[in-house]
Parts: sequence; C-alpha cells; structure tokens
Amino acid sequence: MRVTVVGAGYVGLTTGVCLSQLGHEVICADIDRDRIGRLNTGVLPFKEDGLDELAAENIARGRLRFSDDLAMAAARRDLLLIAVGTPKGADGEADLSFVRQAARSIAPVMSPKTVVTLKSTVVVGTAREVREIIAEERGALDFWVTSNPEFLREGTAVSDFLCPDRIVIGADDRDAGERLVELYRPILEKGVPLLETGTANAELIKYAANAFLALKIGFINDVADLCESMDGDIGAVAKGIGLDSRIGSSFLMPGPGYGGSCFPKDTEAFARTGRSYNVPQPLIETLIARNDLRKQRIARRVLEELAGISDPTVAVFGAAFKANTDDVREAAALHIVPALQQSGVAVRACDPWARHNAARLLPSVVWDDDPYVAASGADLLLILTEWEIFRLLNFGQLAAAMRGRRIFDCRNLLEPQEAMRHGFRYVSLGRAPIPKREKKMAHAAGIRCANRRFRSPN
Ligand code: UDX
Repeated sequence: MRVTVVGAGYVGLTTGVCLSQLGHEVICADIDRDRIGRLNTGVLPFKEDGLDELAAENIARGRLRFSDDLAMAAARRDLLLIAVGTPKGADGEADLSFVRQAARSIAPVMSPKTVVTLKSTVVVGTAREVREIIAEERGALDFWVTSNPEFLREGTAVSDFLCPDRIVIGADDRDAGERLVELYRPILEKGVPLLETGTANAELIKYAANAFLALKIGFINDVADLCESMDGDIGAVAKGIGLDSRIGSSFLMPGPGYGGSCFPKDTEAFARTGRSYNVPQPLIETLIARNDLRKQRIARRVLEELAGISDPTVAVFGAAFKANTDDVREAAALHIVPALQQSGVAVRACDPWARHNAARLLPSVVWDDDPYVAASGADLLLILTEWEIFRLLNFGQLAAAMRGRRIFDCRNLLEPQEAMRHGFRYVSLGRAPIPKREKKMAHAAGIRCANRRFRSPN
C-alpha cells in the first residue's frame, strides 16, 4: 500500500519505518525541514533500538522516503496516518492544535477515497472532529477518518510494533476498517489479536490502557511504602501478586514515580475526559497527585539521610525516565535534582545516554560518563534509572571514590547485603534499610522522625 505518515517524531518515524518493513511504500512527512534534511542523510533524531538499521535497509530498498513537502506527500496515497504530537496544554488538556493543523494541510491535497488514520494519542471525539475539518475543506464525503492507537514503549518500540499484543482499529465505516486490516495483514497473519471497533472506543482504549498501567505502578509504589514500614520485601510481595494470571507480573516494579512522554500526559487527559463528561475518575486523580508527591518525598528522604553533613554532595545515577532511552521528559531526576540543589546539596551525575538532554534542563550539575568519577567525593549515591551498568557497580570502587557510605537505590538494583558488607548504609524501596537506623540515632543527628521508617523493631 502507498502510505504517508504525517509527523516524523517518535511515533511517526517508528510507525513509518516499521510499515516499510512490512512491505508498504512509505513517505514520512514533516514540516520540520532540518529534521527531514537529517533523515535524508540517514540521521535519526532519537535513539531507538534497531530503528536505524531497519530505516537504512528500507531506504536502500526504495520503500522509505522522507519529505517536507506535505502537498506532494499526501497526494495519491491509500492511507494517511496522522502521528503529530499532542503535548499537554497549559491547562493540562491534550493540545490538539498540531492534529487540526495536519488535517487542514492534507484536506486540499489528498486523493478521493483516502483513509485518514489518527495515530496520535487524542481525546475521545477527535476522529469525528478531524472528519469535520476535512469535510469543510473538501465539501465532499469521499474520504474516511479512522483511529488506530499505538502502544509503543520507548526502547522496545520496533518489537512492540512488529509483534504487538493486539491491534486496535477504530472505524465507523466497514470499508475504511478493511483498509487498515490490509495494512496490518503481515502482522495479523502471525495470529496477533485484532479488535475492530468504533473510533471513540479506540480513542478511549489508548487512554484507559495507559491509565491502568500507571495505576499498577502507583499501587505497587504504595505497597512498597507499606513493606518498608513493616520490614517486608516488595520483591517477594510483587512476585506473589504477579503470579496470579489475572494480575500479571509486569509493571509491578516500585520506582521514583512514573515519568516519560505518555503516562503523565495521558493520565491527566484521561482524568480531564472524565470531568468533561461529568464522570470524574477519582482513582486516576489520586494517582496523579501521589505520583507527583512521590518524587518530592524521595528528595525529602535523601535530605534526611544527609542530615548533619556540611556541604553535602549527592551523585545521581540516571536522568532518563527509564533505562535504554535518552528521553528525560517528566523524569524523576528533573524534580529531585532541583529540590536537592535548593536545599544546598551539590549534585554530580551520570547517565549513559541522557546526559546531554538532562544537562540542558539541570544547571550546575557536574556530569561524568564514568560512574566512579561521577561518584567521587559524594556523600550519597542516588540511583534513579535502572541502567544495567548501575546494576553491575563495584562496591569496592564506589567506596574508594565516595566520601560517604550511603546509597539510596530507587530501582532496587543492588544487593542489600553486599552493600552492607562494603560498609554502606543502603536504602531502597519496599525493603527495610540496611543497616537500620535506630530512632535515637535519627534524633541525635537532628532529624525529625517524620514517619515510621526510623522506628526500631521493638
Ligand atoms: C508507555 C506505555 O507502556 C506504552 O504502551 C505507551 O504507548 C507509551 O507509554 P513508555 O512511556 O515508553 O511507554 O514507558 P514505560 O516502559 O511504560 O514506563 C513508563 C514509566 O513507568 C517509566 O518512568 C518507568 O520507569 C515507570 N515504571 C514502569 C515503573 O516505575 N515500574 C514499572 O514496573 C514499570
């Protein structure tokens, strides 16, 4: 099929490259000339495992092209996929201006009988709105607008696209739905489940799926807090919960609060959708507030660990919102580092991929690519991202580099007993700190005992 993807951002490019891999003839179009210029020289604007190899392969086969000429790119195509950004607007609502703009741009140039498909994550009712925008321009109803949400995770987007859990096609017209089924035929033939439904349902599926996954994370973070207070172990508890096939073991890792370009934005939009239909979603409203609070609480707990130290220094390991990406959007580090700096803490940091993106947003941080150099002179090591290299840290080398012997591990990467054997006080999430700090020690250090974490076992 002849396909054009409008918007060469993360979702658009991944979609375009993968569709060309399925054998379609694809143009990725974007109004950003620099981006298209770089793509034409083979440079992708972000890191994504396996994507550059697939892009190179399909460019060479003549199945993948890039263009900043939307009029040319949108003419004579079987399918136009809109995959432009829907950032969080000033009032928290998903900003649909790029989607509307894309609809207005393609309306005069697309051929009759084109199927327009929304790939961008959009509020319920957007497919219908886009249909009206295009109909206004063309004055004839010789096109269809459909919805086909993506469920790509950064770092595994290529395999998420080519081997998905399911494909959701939202079409209010049978013929339009058939064209999307045709688009995905090579994947569907492998037995991947297909859900065909209306456009509004498809739009809601995307928000509800992300809200549910975020809820799982929020829930396990709360259970982790409970585990800490009762000397439990969140690893065992999460395993015990996840072995129930109705629950499943994924998305049960405690952390410093979810981040990234989707969960914070999509939970917000889901809550707003509920309010706008007068069906508030209190679970999600609470989740959003608790997730923000969690980042602040971690900063506060780090400060408590540093009580009594003059001119403290913290080494922050991990600025990306999760491992295997250079993306720092809504990352825990962006909230926690400024909170530490405002309290007079000097921050050193290390991240294998996200250093440059983070450095732009976090002034006065001293960066080093070598974790042991980044840790030198630090009183406390704070792990925020689950990079594999941090899991393999050598305690002896860390102890030699650091001034203090404190580790606060927000991804539970390290072995508590090992850390203790090397003389570290090791605090993680959902596991009792090792060694425990007695209440009177905390008071002696001038720390206000704000919660039960410092209580002695008896
Ligand atoms: C997410 C959805 O998974 C994907 O389906 C959707 O299309 C886009 O949003 P992504 O933002 O790439 O993907 O990251 P994901 O792997 O889902 O992680 C999101 C956040 O949750 C990260 O900050 C991660 O660290 C956190 N997380 C995830 C946890 O804290 N614990 C977990 O168990 C899983």
